[in-house]
Amino acid sequence: MLDKGDLRVAVLGAGAIANEHFDAVQATEGLAACAVVDIDYAKANEVANFYEIKAYTDYRLMIQTEKPDVVAIALPHFLHKETAVFAAEHGCHLMLEKPMALSVLECDEIIEAGRKADIRILVGHTQHYMAENIHAKKIIQSGELGKLVMIHDIRHTNYFEDSRPQWFVEKAKSGGGILANLGTHSIDKIQWLTDSTVRQIKASISYYGSRGNVEGSGIIYLETVEGIPATIVQSGYLGASRNETEIIFTEGMLKLVTGESLWMSRGDSYKKLETVITAAPFELQYSDLLTAIRNHSETSCSPEYGRSVLAALEAVYRSAESGLEQVVY
Ligand SMILES: NC(=O)c1ccc[n+]([C@@H]2O[C@H](COP(=O)([O-])OP(=O)(O)OC[C@H]3O[C@@H](n4cnc5c(N)ncnc54)[C@H](O)[C@@H]3O)[C@@H](O)[C@H]2O)c1
Repeated sequence: MLDKGDLRVAVLGAGAIANEHFDAVQATEGLAACAVVDIDYAKANEVANFYEIKAYTDYRLMIQTEKPDVVAIALPHFLHKETAVFAAEHGCHLMLEKPMALSVLECDEIIEAGRKADIRILVGHTQHYMAENIHAKKIIQSGELGKLVMIHDIRHTNYFEDSRPQWFVEKAKSGGGILANLGTHSIDKIQWLTDSTVRQIKASISYYGSRGNVEGSGIIYLETVEGIPATIVQSGYLGASRNETEIIFTEGMLKLVTGESLWMSRGDSYKKLETVITAAPFELQYSDLLTAIRNHSETSCSPEYGRSVLAALEAVYRSAESGLEQVVY
């Protein structure tokens, strides 16, 4: 229900992640959903009926007709830049899904469009808003486990399963495979946990996926600007699912099971920590964007930050291709 003064939010894309956006908008005081866009009208219509909003198949027409205050971009990666720039040019604030775009160059175009239009942009790096991650970051910052020494991040998932939309496995549309889609979560997690950015990268990747032309696995060794070393190991081939980050200090260890739990060891076996969940990650993202709009301030996940993740991803591919360590720029 739209209240006077509510900012009107439209979501581009009625795919897998769209409901998370609409549920968060509904839960955020000061925001109200107004429209959804999908080239597949049946999908748009189903979402529109559920949330009692309007359905469109053309994002340009929707933006010109509805004039939303906020546009959430939950589209295939190759459409992020084009839609973000169009929405910015029409004065809409942006909730832009990760990865920000296909390349650093595209990120720069979005940043420039945002500056010209003086709009707020939040890049949806959800890792920043997950309760266990926030808890882990507090422990890192408290110093209670001593000096942070290194981070080891591992993710296994059947990336080429039939249910995954085809665009994810076509490099021109996705920007890459498991590393572009899920590796960017890991790069982001490491940067955000350490309050730093990645400085250099050595990577090796493989291409044995059952469809498409994207990588299906990768091993990355990286160092942050502060010199913290980390590894990211990801496999999209058949195997047992895992999504864990071990954070190693001089006086103990943390194990983050993303979206599930946080564990601590001070020399003995891991013990589960109690983590207080205040709100769903997407609700925190939307309230952060709303605060930035109201205060005319920077969002907690700025487009410049989103660009840094793409810069690291580009270094991953350069290193895998050349066989040499790459500096991130
Ligand atoms: N933050 C997270 O944890 C998280 C989780 C999942 C996905 N994502 C991101 O969200 C975005 C969307 O992913 P998804 O899994 O929902 O993908 P999806 O394929 O399920 O949905 C994308 C939708 O866009 C529609 N579409 C394609 N071209 C269009 C166009 N020109 N105009 C309008 N609609 C069009 C498709 O029909 C589809 O319904 C991606 O950036 C992805 O990386 C983020």
